[in-house]
Amino acid sequence: MIEKQNDNRTELLKQIRDEVINFKESPLYQERIKNKVFPVIGEGSHCAKIMFVGEAPGRNEAQTGRPFCGAAGKILDELLASAGIKREDVYITNIVKDRPPFNRDPLPEEIDAYGPFLDRQIKIIKPEIIVSLGRFAMGYIMKKFNLELDSISRLHGKAFDAETAYGKIKVIPLYHPAVAVYNNGAKGELIKDFQILRDFQWNTY
Ligand code: URA
Repeated sequence: MIEKQNDNRTELLKQIRDEVINFKESPLYQERIKNKVFPVIGEGSHCAKIMFVGEAPGRNEAQTGRPFCGAAGKILDELLASAGIKREDVYITNIVKDRPPFNRDPLPEEIDAYGPFLDRQIKIIKPEIIVSLGRFAMGYIMKKFNLELDSISRLHGKAFDAETAYGKIKVIPLYHPAVAVYNNGAKGELIKDFQILRDFQWNTY
């Protein structure tokens, strides 16, 4: 079982928060200042067994500083509930911590700039299951753990074994909850995929 005690993870996560707040070299820092919005660092249990990784904050998220609190967040809450998971028991974050203008896809240089913060969050929280939401998060996480990348339509809902410095984990790519905002078929698919977490949350790796 992965050790979850006796370390200063809250302190280390606060350091990341402070560094992101002061990350003036970021390609998205000027957007943040111009729009008077916040970076979104992540929220949830610092001892979470499951970490969700999205793409980048949207408008609601940048206005509040909280991940997945808009329309996609409402879907995510429903999906968590459908698998019997409490939002406060997991950790939710994104690769890119500032909102790209007009919700455009994150650029490779933005992913490169913010990726190291996510890497550190993973190292500190030591999740046993990392769930990527959408193809950008999937691409980053699969590459990070040397897993073979394919299209999200082939990989979604499957669990992959990965090795970390702190032990064995599972990586589970899922579709992004935003796809279900206007598409009920996609929502059904996501609900089906989320059931994999219902069983996994009780096991240890
Ligand atoms: N989409 C994301 O990828 N992340 C959020 O926090 C909100 C919407």
